[in-house]
Amino acid sequence: LASIYVDISGIEPGTQLTVKWRGKPVFIRRRTSDEIDAGRAVDVTTLIDQSAENANKPGADASDENRTLDDAGEWLVMMGVCTHLGCVPLGDAGEFGGWFCPCHGSHYDTAGRIRKGPAPRNLDIPVAQFTDESTILLG
Ligand code: FES
Repeated sequence: LASIYVDISGIEPGTQLTVKWRGKPVFIRRRTSDEIDAGRAVDVTTLIDQSAENANKPGADASDENRTLDDAGEWLVMMGVCTHLGCVPLGDAGEFGGWFCPCHGSHYDTAGRIRKGPAPRNLDIPVAQFTDESTILLG
């Protein structure tokens, strides 16, 4: 299966890049400190899906730290595919400051975790890594 390199040097804090990978959208978000703080303030035991759903950290819990690609929590890389029925969620939207899926009303937080609505799971995190400070390898 194909891997792709993504140049992230042009992504400003508080914005995201959407790339197509293996036929599906992938969101690469550079989070602001407020987004990081909001994500880290959440008690994992209150979450609908308490698994990180992170292919890079099998079995990990859904704490904010287990969702991001870097330890500082600035970079969030996720499939842009709602875990309900597969629509593409909208960024900077919803009641939890993250993403909102308009198809049936699922709200995701700043770490892409499902917080309200019919979606059963957090947005999936694909296999990804930094290859240098401005490049992410997907797959
Ligand atoms: Fe997203 Fe149904 S597909 S809420």
